[in-house]
Amino acid sequence: MNGPSPAPDDSSLRLEVDRDRVGWLVFDRPDASVNLLSSAVLRRLDALLAELESRIANGQLVAVAVRSGKEATFIAGADVSEISGVVSAEEARAASAEGQRIFRRLERLRVPTVALIDGTCLGGGTELSLHCDYRAATDRTATRIGLPEVRLGIVPGFGGCVKLPRLIGIQRALGLILGGKPVSAERAGRLGLVDRVLASHALDRALAEFVEDVLAGRVPKAEPRLGLRDRLLERTPPGRKLLFALTRKKVQSETKGFYPAPLRAIDVVERTTGAGPDDAYRIEAEALGELLAGEVSRALVRVFLISQAAKKALPEEVLERARKVESAAVIGAGVMGGAIAELAVAGDVRTVLKDIEQEALEAGQRHAAELLRKAAKARVFTEEQAGLKLALLSGTLTYDGLEEVDLAIEAVVERMAVKQQVFRELEEAVGPEAVLATNTSSLSVTEMGTALERPERLVGLHFFNPVHKMPLVEVIRAEKTDDSTLATAFRFALDAGKTPVVVADRPGFLVNRLLGPYLGEAGRLVEEGIAIDAIDAALRAFGMPMGPCRLLDEIGFDVARHAGREMAATLGDRLAPSGVLDRLIDEGRLGRKNGRGFYLYEAGRAKGVDPEVAALFGAAGAAVSDSRIRERCLWSMVNEAARALEEEIVASADLLDLAMIMGTGFPPFRGGLLRWADEEGAARIHEGLTGLAEELGERFRPAPLLARLAEQNGTFTHSL
Ligand code: NAI
Repeated sequence: MNGPSPAPDDSSLRLEVDRDRVGWLVFDRPDASVNLLSSAVLRRLDALLAELESRIANGQLVAVAVRSGKEATFIAGADVSEISGVVSAEEARAASAEGQRIFRRLERLRVPTVALIDGTCLGGGTELSLHCDYRAATDRTATRIGLPEVRLGIVPGFGGCVKLPRLIGIQRALGLILGGKPVSAERAGRLGLVDRVLASHALDRALAEFVEDVLAGRVPKAEPRLGLRDRLLERTPPGRKLLFALTRKKVQSETKGFYPAPLRAIDVVERTTGAGPDDAYRIEAEALGELLAGEVSRALVRVFLISQAAKKALPEEVLERARKVESAAVIGAGVMGGAIAELAVAGDVRTVLKDIEQEALEAGQRHAAELLRKAAKARVFTEEQAGLKLALLSGTLTYDGLEEVDLAIEAVVERMAVKQQVFRELEEAVGPEAVLATNTSSLSVTEMGTALERPERLVGLHFFNPVHKMPLVEVIRAEKTDDSTLATAFRFALDAGKTPVVVADRPGFLVNRLLGPYLGEAGRLVEEGIAIDAIDAALRAFGMPMGPCRLLDEIGFDVARHAGREMAATLGDRLAPSGVLDRLIDEGRLGRKNGRGFYLYEAGRAKGVDPEVAALFGAAGAAVSDSRIRERCLWSMVNEAARALEEEIVASADLLDLAMIMGTGFPPFRGGLLRWADEEGAARIHEGLTGLAEELGERFRPAPLLARLAEQNGTFTHSL
């Protein structure tokens, strides 16, 4: 998109004409697992369209079909690394208009056009299919069709906003565009997004039949199938007015004004409804241009690129030493163990869950079954698949039958002696090749390994609670962990759909360590008499999913205090837990788990600060500005991040940013903690922290790396 137009990429897209005079456009990027619509590929498409036009004019072709030469992917969308190179709104608008022009050229071919979707079909891939006369998709699970653009802070810009509402109706189109979630072929069929769902086991025959049926006029042209209520909403001006207003309201409450793209998408759909095609496409391209040049999109694109790169964070020669995990054991069937077991069987790994108490075991199995049911409800897989997956889970109170497992994950109580004992027993029970992992959140994996005869096969696999929702897994490399053990753990997490980040075996690893000073500072603000809801509101207004006091409720005061003490013992007093936790624990409060936290809970939802707690800390008195609250909490976190980077707890600032987003919900639209710090400026944060250190104590003293960056006008992050 940027710079001079690239040469067409002739190798990624070819034209084949079959005996029946059907022209097949086959996307097949060499040496890659997925097809992308880079600008070079679009130019190639443009050139082939010119050729198709002349062949059609000469009567050589009766139909044009688009398909992929790859297994399991159709077209995964635009090339996001190209998007990140676009700087101005005008450049982005022009790129969008160019893509639209090419797709509209496809739309105007004078023979029937068909898209055959087998595998992932996202963004530009979906938009391309929307410019064909007909679409078919295969029934395999890899086939997912969607428009995930809003997740990158933009709107579909190759005609998706214009075509989709016309094809399937406004509400369904908005559902796909605003949710950004791809759908299965079966669902796409029900939505009217595809005209036929094809059986993937006899694909070639099914494809040929579909094309034949199209040519014979046996496939009716799709049009929105709307009931009376939906027709009133979508086809009358007052109905539409109401519909768009309600959708805006819903989006506003979900995005809290932090994400402009979904609102803009609603605008585009509203303004293009009923507009002539040229105007409609222009409106869409303009919106894309503005969004792409904006800060939020830049931040989200950065996060996307880092998350892609993170999957390849281990060198190829290390990753290839990974053992494929086909069967696993999870020891400890508590909150974490049950959920980890569910994750494993959801990924079709045969899993045995072990506990020492029958009751706990049963509770863990029930928890896993419940999570599988929820996943089926959320259409992650079908009820039937959920049943099959559940059948992969078994429970036991003994170590019998563990010889065959490839991986055993320990999630028993957080006590070194207990965990070491479990590993001694495990070492006896599993085969010589099995990898052993601990889900500890605060203990030294290296020390745990001293109980083992072969500590090189022990690794940390730190999942976050709730496991099914939190994408991050910290993979902890202990002193003795060998490459194949590390790679096996990393690969297991990846295969389970998580984002693994390798971290060093130091107290708190990465995420909990950075949360330490942040939560500690929130506690000290409470101690100073600042209102609890004011503290939480200030950080929510920054974009945190919940405030720090509310987060402490979730973590549990005893767990947070224990972690703080452990970290402070090695890393220094700045990580010491605030006295607030002592006071609360003395009062018999442990957080949400015993229903007695900072907040009152009703049916599992926080219902405002508990007045008893507010009274305990004399909240009425003191007040500080929101920005001061944010500075104290967030700058402390940045300062700790600087230390963690210097100590090489994690390989890069990019990975640190990713881990905080995936592990704590640090607002993605800010691009990450250190990316945000860079925008604030190292000098400003350094100066601020120095002032706070003078005023409130040494815990704020700037880290050496921060001091260096401040002096040299440097930044933590470099990408983008
Ligand atoms: P939990 O107390 O809910 O579950 C522990 C389970 O282990 C209990 O069912 C208990 O009966 C069982 N157990 C105890 N000794 C055992 C033994 N020798 N063999 C087999 N089972 C045994 O604990 P939770 O919260 O699930 O935590 C487990 C581990 O995960 C801890 O190391 C914790 O630090 C870590 N973790 C916890 C997180 C959380 O938010 N709860 C987050 C991340 C890690």
